[in-house]
Amino acid sequence: MKNDIKPATGKLGILVVGLGGAVSSTFVVGTLAVRKGLSTPIGSITQLATIRLGKRNENNFPKIKDVVPLSDLNDLVFGGWDIFSEDVYEASVHAEVLSQKDLDGVKDELKAIKPMPAAFDQEWVKRLHGTHVKNAPTRWELTEQIRKDIRDFKQANGCDRVVVIWSASTEVYLPMCEEHKTLASLEKAMKENKTDVISPSMCYAYAAIAEGAPYIMGAPNLCVDIPAMWEFAAQKQVAICGKDYKTGQTMLKTVLAPMLKTRMLGLSGWFSTNILGNRDGEVLDDPDSFKTKEVSKLSVIDTILQPELYPELYGDVYHKVRINYYPPRKDNKEGWDNIDLVGWMGYPMQLKVDFLCRDSILAAPLCLDLVLFADLAQRAGMSGIQDWLSFYFKSPMHDFDHIPEHDLFIQYTKLKNTLRKMIGEETIDYLD
Ligand SMILES: NC(=O)c1ccc[n+]([C@@H]2O[C@H](COP(=O)([O-])OP(=O)(O)OC[C@H]3O[C@@H](n4cnc5c(N)ncnc54)[C@H](O)[C@@H]3O)[C@@H](O)[C@H]2O)c1
Repeated sequence: MKNDIKPATGKLGILVVGLGGAVSSTFVVGTLAVRKGLSTPIGSITQLATIRLGKRNENNFPKIKDVVPLSDLNDLVFGGWDIFSEDVYEASVHAEVLSQKDLDGVKDELKAIKPMPAAFDQEWVKRLHGTHVKNAPTRWELTEQIRKDIRDFKQANGCDRVVVIWSASTEVYLPMCEEHKTLASLEKAMKENKTDVISPSMCYAYAAIAEGAPYIMGAPNLCVDIPAMWEFAAQKQVAICGKDYKTGQTMLKTVLAPMLKTRMLGLSGWFSTNILGNRDGEVLDDPDSFKTKEVSKLSVIDTILQPELYPELYGDVYHKVRINYYPPRKDNKEGWDNIDLVGWMGYPMQLKVDFLCRDSILAAPLCLDLVLFADLAQRAGMSGIQDWLSFYFKSPMHDFDHIPEHDLFIQYTKLKNTLRKMIGEETIDYLD
């Protein structure tokens, strides 16, 4: 059944929370460079991937962007918030992800993109000391200020629509509590300024939903992954998705773990460790922020391997994840995995993976895809949790009735089939 998708006319505002961060600045620089013809959008499904339409023998593989009505890169306008006032050019220089040559090509555009003051509370990100921040007596009023920022940005830039994406720091661990269960209890807690259960990221999420803007959660923060926000998104008919970009080590896990399971190979241990030296690494050096990340990273293997169904293979797996702050590596993270697997008659084997990756280079194309797909979903009237975008997340959001899907290739099939359905094409079950 073909969805009625509103056309992507006019400008699309992209408001990035954490605009001056390594991931955000790399995303903005790359997108501007690509649209000027100075670079190639490697890693982006929306810009490069094809989609098979029809039967295999029809041999029809157009590019996704040629058959799905996505916004054109020329129609994107960037803005956002950060706790530091640097423009995106200065922030990119500090992030040390991209070469000067790559920044120079879009320098004027980058200098014009300046962050709005952030909704920030140091209790929630202990290692950062923000200087460019809002003041408000309550979380409710803080949210009102963000709402006004969204409206003002939209008007000043003549935007037709806005998407808000969180690529800011990982907040301290927060389990779901009573205040998060209904919209009424959430709003009450915001008005009563319960700062210990209403994080700054929740203020951004609430503001985005209230303004009808899709909200994407790129960090593992609880934030929009609570029944109160789902209720609000349903009421306002807004698309939401998250959490925690799946870029490096966890992406590998969601390819390797299904491989073991498909072949009915056993597992006794999986030890993952990382060294990284960017600001994200510094924030995650705080045990409370690390806890949020750890929970997100640990959930994957258990859900994929289903130890309750295969106790003889996965009933006793030792799974450990470490992140070590190591400044010399900057954004160039090294992730090691040691996998102790078990074969025929219980004989042990080992698999070692050493991924010398670049954190923000991996994350930037995901940001681009997510803003374009979230805007598409919104125009197609698909509100609430966008689980077809699970492909991009370590901890895919899901309501209590569903178990999340972590396998990267099942997620990819779901994403493409959703696109096929949206444009009135047959979904593909690979039986032909
Ligand atoms: N591959 C990846 O890089 C990857 C993968 C998954 C998740 N993430 C998550 O993405 C986020 C960004 O990563 P990064 O490497 O760019 O980190 P970063 O530290 O370079 O950037 C974060 C930015 O957010 C800003 N910030 C913090 N709190 C804010 C607030 N309340 N409002 C506005 N701005 C705020 C900081 O000042 C900083 O500029 C992190 O939470 C990280 O865990 C990154």
